[in-house]
Amino acid sequence: LDQTHPSRARPFLLRHKLLFASLGAGVLVVGGVLLGAAIFLSGALTTAATQQHSALTHWILERGLLLSLRSDADGIPVPPLGDAAQISRGLECYSAHCAQCHGAPGIGPDHKALGMMPAPGSLSQTARDWPPARLYYVTRKGIRMTGMPAWEFRLTDDQLWSTIAFLRILPELDRAAYQELVAAVEPHACATPDRDVSRPAATKPDVVLRQYGCHGCHQIDGVVGPRTEVGPPLSRWRTRKLIAGILPNTEANLVQWLLDPQALDPDSLMPDLGVATMDAQIMARHLLSQP
Ligand code: HEC
Ligand code: HEC
Repeated sequence: LDQTHPSRARPFLLRHKLLFASLGAGVLVVGGVLLGAAIFLSGALTTAATQQHSALTHWILERGLLLSLRSDADGIPVPPLGDAAQISRGLECYSAHCAQCHGAPGIGPDHKALGMMPAPGSLSQTARDWPPARLYYVTRKGIRMTGMPAWEFRLTDDQLWSTIAFLRILPELDRAAYQELVAAVEPHACATPDRDVSRPAATKPDVVLRQYGCHGCHQIDGVVGPRTEVGPPLSRWRTRKLIAGILPNTEANLVQWLLDPQALDPDSLMPDLGVATMDAQIMARHLLSQP
């Protein structure tokens, strides 16, 4: 009998290897999820910025950044970098928008940057180690969950590349040379916002809304954010008759409202967010087209 059905001779466990392996894996996964949930619910995971990441977390974040850059940044075409006017524009951008967090040769970051977790470090080494396309991508897109802002909506492409051109000479500068260059530069050469900036037609409205922090005060369909009611919820906007109780709800009026709320209602608590004209149009069209 055993010869005709050799499998019957093997123990039950061996005959159902796959079944037991799957069961074991399932128990491990469920156990892991339950343990994770228990740790999360206990409040043991601190959100304090005074507590450092573990070495493992730090390593994972750093590797994650490099892997993401490899796939997202490395194909970006790099324009010619390094002429004197471009470097000077970049220096103005750097001193106006980056030095407060990353410091400059012989100059520390602002106090508020020192309280950040992770703290933004000197870019001298990164500027030497990273190819321009990666510096550009990180500056343009920011780094999630670190406090590194995306500059895509604040700096034009020319200003971004100029900043990268400047970063490449940053490691060679000492304190005196940096300050001499800053003193020589035309102030406001890197002023933002640029009201007349143009965006690719494919720019997603939810990105625009988030880049102006609208979801910090309004609940907006399709934009994840806090459950705030500082400003009125903007859902089903199309059905509204008036904007802020004073203006007929047309696209043109909505654009004007977003560009300069106080011009229409001096007492309004809705701030002037330095919205570019094209972005106001993208947001207005989006709000009015929601079902
Ligand atoms: C509000 C503070 C802040 C400002 C302003 C800021 N950064 Fe950052 N930046 C950060 C933080 C935080 C990190 C992440 C640090 C980390 O991961 O260790 C970072 C990381 C970076 C990195 C990657 C560095 C690395 O080695 O991983 C680059 C490049 C960079 N910033 C460029 C810039 C440039 C260029 C500007 C100006 C246009 C700028 N940053 C403005 C906070 C800031
Ligand atoms: C700091 C908080 C804050 C931010 C940020 C903010 N708003 Fe407002 N918003 C308000 C407040 C408060 C009002 C009510 C103002 C009033 O009625 O005078 C308002 C009113 C509005 C209205 C008219 C609402 C109504 O019920 O009539 C619209 C539309 C609007 N905001 C859109 C936006 C968009 C789009 C953004 C991003 C570009 C934005 N808001 C950013 C606070 C904010």
